[in-house]
Amino acid sequence: MDVLIDNVWHAYEDLPVLHGVSLDIQSAEIVCILGSSGCGKSTLLRLIAGLEVPSAGHISTRGTPSPRTLHPIAFVFQDFALVPWRSVARNVELPLEHHALPKPDRRQRVSSALYRVKLSEFAQTYPNQLSGGMRQRTGLARALVVNPAVLLLDEPFSAVDLGTRELLQREFLRLWEEARFTAIYVTHDVFEATQMAHRVVILSRRPARVQKIIEIDLPHADRSEEHPRLVAMRETIRETIRGEIDAAGQELVDAP
Ligand SMILES: Nc1ncnc2c1ncn2[C@@H]1O[C@H](COP(=O)(O)OP(=O)(O)OP(=O)(O)O)[C@@H](O)[C@H]1O
Ligand SMILES: [Mg+2]
Repeated sequence: MDVLIDNVWHAYEDLPVLHGVSLDIQSAEIVCILGSSGCGKSTLLRLIAGLEVPSAGHISTRGTPSPRTLHPIAFVFQDFALVPWRSVARNVELPLEHHALPKPDRRQRVSSALYRVKLSEFAQTYPNQLSGGMRQRTGLARALVVNPAVLLLDEPFSAVDLGTRELLQREFLRLWEEARFTAIYVTHDVFEATQMAHRVVILSRRPARVQKIIEIDLPHADRSEEHPRLVAMRETIRETIRGEIDAAGQELVDAP
């Protein structure tokens, strides 16, 4: 499914956060969104998810999801948001409880989602007995269990160590290869963005506009760490974000 963001403005009371953001995201595209802290990235994801309504402008989707899709859009939260008194399997089952599914179908969906994130053996484990990486995989399984057409991820792997993050990134790409959902992925990690994204979208300081869009037309398999084009892109991204942070600092200094 495509996601069409058309001239979206958003404010919280008198705090302007988004300033005319437009972006057409193609079906099965991975778009990474970067920008300085507080610029409005999570707000944009919440608007796409329909958790909030934009002050002005429109967000729509185009295309028909697969018949197995229960929710067209699913969200992976930064802090996992697991329910501590439910086992891994019961956490993953949670979004299915809103649907009148036959029991075998429900069980099949849960076990397939757990299998896809390699947690089958931990179905009956509770969140406090899991490592950070396993918690994040549970969060991913809970999003995948509805077979979403669009997956929104808000800094999904930031709370785990570097090695686990790289593993989760590879697993995420494998899941994407299998299911070809559209992914809108907020991250602060420039390296992660250039490993995963088809397009990197850099937002300006708040109120956020689209500052720069960088296309990465390299197959994932060819994205070695030291690939010269990726190295150059990372530098451009860092410079752009640094420029926005400096400008925001300057505005604070200049304020009366
Ligand atoms: N529910 C809310 N009510 C009022 N203000 C909010 C609300 N949510 C976010 N804000 C404000 O909107 C601005 C953008 O917040 P947002 O969470 O979208 O930023 P972000 O880019 O995701 O930041 P970070 O990189 O730190 O996660 C911030 O100034 C924040 O304080
Ligand atoms: Mg955020």
